[in-house]
Amino acid sequence: MIEVQNVSKRFGSFTALHDVSFRVEAGEVYGLLGENGAGKTTLMRMMATILRPTQGEIEIEGFSVTKEPEVVRRRIGILFGGDVGLYSRLTARENIAYFGSLYGLQKAQIAARIEHLSRVFEMEPFLDRPVGPFSRGMRQKVAIARTLVHDPAVILLDEPTTGLDVTAANLFRRMIRMLQEEGKTILFSSHNMTEIDKLCKRIALVHRGRLHYAGSVDGLRERYGMHDLDELFMAVVEGSDR
Ligand SMILES: Nc1ncnc2c1ncn2[C@@H]1O[C@H](COP(=O)(O)OP(=O)(O)OP(=O)(O)O)[C@@H](O)[C@H]1O
Ligand SMILES: [Mg+2]
Repeated sequence: MIEVQNVSKRFGSFTALHDVSFRVEAGEVYGLLGENGAGKTTLMRMMATILRPTQGEIEIEGFSVTKEPEVVRRRIGILFGGDVGLYSRLTARENIAYFGSLYGLQKAQIAARIEHLSRVFEMEPFLDRPVGPFSRGMRQKVAIARTLVHDPAVILLDEPTTGLDVTAANLFRRMIRMLQEEGKTILFSSHNMTEIDKLCKRIALVHRGRLHYAGSVDGLRERYGMHDLDELFMAVVEGSDR
C-alpha cells in the first residue's frame, strides 16, 4: 500500500509538486501518468526516501517515509528507466548479489533469491556472463532482478519501458504481471497513456506538479465520453488549465 497525503515539494522557490494525494492499494498495478517535468520522478524519489516532502506525508505499507525511512527502504524496490547502472565487468549474478549484500541479506538467502528470479525472468543462459555486452532487454532483466533481490512488497518503476523496443517492452510487461500475481504492489510511471493503459486499471494523472485525476481509466473515459487515450489526456489537462 502506498498512501500519498497532501504532498508538496519545493526546490528553492520552485514548487515541483503541489498538494498531491492518492492511494495505491496492496496488490495493485497503479499508473503514474504525466508529461516531462510533471513531477513523477520527484514523487517516486520521495517514496523511496531519497528526497523529503516539503509538506505532507507518504506512507508505504503504513510506515512513514520521513519517520521510518529504514523500514520503508526494506519494503520497497525502485527501478529508474534509462541507464540502469550495472557494473559491466561483473556478471549478472554478481550484480544482483552485490545489491543483496547491501540489503544485509545472507549468502544463502541471496543465492536462493537469484535462483528464483533467474528462473522467473529466464536469465539462466546469461546469468554468469559479464553484463558489459548485454542488450538493453537483458540489462533490464538484470536490473529488475536486482530491484527485487530483497523481495520488496512495494515496487516503484520509473519509466521502465522508455527506450525499450516492442519485444523488450512486451517482455517487461509480462514480468510486471508475474509480479502482480505474486501479490506485489506496483507503481508504474510513464508519459504515455497507452503504455499505462496496458497495465493499470487505476492512475494518477499529474501535470506541472498538480494532480488532475486519480481513479480508474474507465471512469475517466466515462467522464469525458472519449475512448482515445491521447485525447483523454489532453481533455483532462486542458479542462483544468482553463
Ligand atoms: N533536485 C532538483 N532541483 C531543482 N529542481 C528539480 C530537482 N529535481 C526535479 N526538479 C524539477 O522538478 C520538476 C519535476 O521534475 P521530475 O524529474 O520529477 O519530472 P518527471 O515527471 O519525472 O519528468 P520526466 O518525464 O522528464 O522524467 C521539473 O521542473 C524539474 O526541473
Ligand atoms: Mg522522470
